[in-house]
Amino acid sequence: MSVNEKAPIANHGQVPHYGSLGAGNGDDGAGPNSVGPEKEKSLTFHQVGYEVPTLCGRRTKVIISSCSGIMRPGLNALMGPTGSGKTTLLDVLADRKGRRGPSGDVLINGSRRPKNFKCVSGYVVQDDLIMGSLSVRENLAFSAALRLPSGTTWNQRKERVDRVIQELGLVSCAGTKVGNEFFRGVSGGERKRTSIGMELIIQPQVLFLDEPTTGLDAFTAVSVVKLLKRSGHMGSGAPLTASLPL
Ligand SMILES: Nc1ncnc2c1ncn2[C@@H]1O[C@H](COP(=O)(O)OP(=O)(O)OP(=O)(O)O)[C@@H](O)[C@H]1O
Ligand SMILES: [Mg+2]
Repeated sequence: MSVNEKAPIANHGQVPHYGSLGAGNGDDGAGPNSVGPEKEKSLTFHQVGYEVPTLCGRRTKVIISSCSGIMRPGLNALMGPTGSGKTTLLDVLADRKGRRGPSGDVLINGSRRPKNFKCVSGYVVQDDLIMGSLSVRENLAFSAALRLPSGTTWNQRKERVDRVIQELGLVSCAGTKVGNEFFRGVSGGERKRTSIGMELIIQPQVLFLDEPTTGLDAFTAVSVVKLLKRSGHMGSGAPLTASLPL
């Protein structure tokens, strides 16, 4: 599957699948208004590779090579030890590596990813990007204001925020400041759920998460994974990456 034995493993990955599994979603240029829930998205990738130029510029360093797999609707995991290329592969699948560098095919329901794929998919990064001086509700409202289509009314945005707070079990801490290195705020699990909520707010068709359970205790990790399973009901497939403790 990859050049080195540390390569990440997609849990559904063996046979590349190109067949249409539903409505095609090719280069249709659908605007960000098409963020409404569309279920049953399958993501397939075939012979995906990624390399970067070395410092001297003459040679390239291969980060991942010849990775193929299928992510079916529901939770999918990329597993591998540290440095094996999980984040890089997730970035390539999420179309966050630009046009240069990545090679191979990434398809949604058998068609190329739409140009607005970044608008209709969510990505929760490994290190939370969340404002500690704002409350949980304010962070969610900020994400909604930035990322929902401009035609969305204030009431619609508030409804989305309320729904996410309810779904993620954040009602009791919605008014609490998230906190940072200078002052204590919500718990680690609540912080992680807020980060996930900031992506769920747009009801992404696909949600990518980079190590959503790293740094959490076992109980919180289980509650986050349960939440991600439930998020399927909110219209999101959810590939995620997780490191295997080795
Ligand atoms: N732009 C880059 N330039 C040079 N090396 C890179 C670059 N991006 C990634 N790498 C290297 O590629 C390897 C894979 O990195 P990546 O971040 O994808 O690993 P990972 O599996 O997500 O690791 P972790 O579990 O620690 O987050 C690492 O050895 C990293 O140093
Ligand atoms: Mg990583």
